[in-house]
Amino acid sequence: MRIQLEALQRDALASLQAAESVADLEQIRVQTLGKKGALTQLLRGLGGVSAEERPILGELANALKAAFNEALTARLERLQQRDLEIRLQAERLDVTLPGRRPPLGGVHPITRALGEIIRIFSGMGFPPATGPEVEDDWHNFGALNIPADHPAREMHDTFYLPPGPQGQKRLLRTHTSPVQIHVMENRPPPLRIIAPGKVFRCDSDLTHTPMFHQVEGFLVDEGVHFGQLKGILSRFLQLFFERDLPVRFRPSFFPFTEPSAEVDMGCLFCNGQGCRVCKGNGWLEVLGCGLIHPAVLDNVGIDREKYSGFAFGMGVERLAMLKYGIQDLRLFFENDVRFLEQHARL
Ligand code: FA5
Ligand code: MG
Repeated sequence: MRIQLEALQRDALASLQAAESVADLEQIRVQTLGKKGALTQLLRGLGGVSAEERPILGELANALKAAFNEALTARLERLQQRDLEIRLQAERLDVTLPGRRPPLGGVHPITRALGEIIRIFSGMGFPPATGPEVEDDWHNFGALNIPADHPAREMHDTFYLPPGPQGQKRLLRTHTSPVQIHVMENRPPPLRIIAPGKVFRCDSDLTHTPMFHQVEGFLVDEGVHFGQLKGILSRFLQLFFERDLPVRFRPSFFPFTEPSAEVDMGCLFCNGQGCRVCKGNGWLEVLGCGLIHPAVLDNVGIDREKYSGFAFGMGVERLAMLKYGIQDLRLFFENDVRFLEQHARL
């Protein structure tokens, strides 16, 4: 029996050492110390042993249990430590890996162009002002010397709204020029302002959309002349496009300026050869301008003998098309993610 006990101790300790998992350890424990375990079986045989030998064997069995438990605890700790290391290794974070970028939105090319235009004019001393998108007839047309029968007032050119509380005609502004009127009504000259914003017309093709953006600019002071207007606009276009492009001032007509001009840029898509974007003529109109008509100054109570001014209104989409090489203006508003991602820069 003594020999059996010693053999059991040897075998049990050896299998503890060989165990490769926590589950194996538990199995060995049950096989050794459990109710039907090897030690329990052996101790059943104690009854048949002589009285002198019994306490010696009992002591031996207790020593075996103690040695087994000690070895079990040691092996358990070792295996748990190993499992932890394996897990830590598997879940290891390599903090030197470059981070994953979360998808970020970008700035829409129109917003970018607007920001650029505002920045350049701010640098020339023209701070931004705003006006309402829903206008009354007077600010959008009347005060700007646009006669009652002017084609721009036609139902098919302008989005009209139900009349306002005092019965005044209301409409979505067709240009940013009414901001000139608001500013001149409220502040005395000298004035220098730009007014960026949305405008609305019943228009849709490659170079026209029903909603688009303009930036109005104007200056009222003593002795203003066309040369200053031409200088400011030429300098602006050079800064905006970051190079010298063909620019021409073409005599034109606006009821609120006299003389008036439209400014065309050489078409970048065909180098002025003529293509579908410029409708074959090699030039793309980007803005209208002129010296403020004295009748407009009269309408806002500014002394036409003392003051004169210039004004301009530019199409932001047209400028953005030319600057970023976008051939169809409608792309700006279709919100195709491929287009937006291609042009999104922060
Ligand atoms: C005007 O709107 C005048 N208020 C501009 C002005 C201001 C003249 C101050 C004199 C003094 P016009 O309708 O030409 O003018 O439009 C100005 C610019 O807006 C055009 O040169 C063009 O670049 C742009 N534009 C006009 N219609 C559209 C449209 N449907 N879609 C996109 N851009 C347009
Ligand atoms: Mg025009």
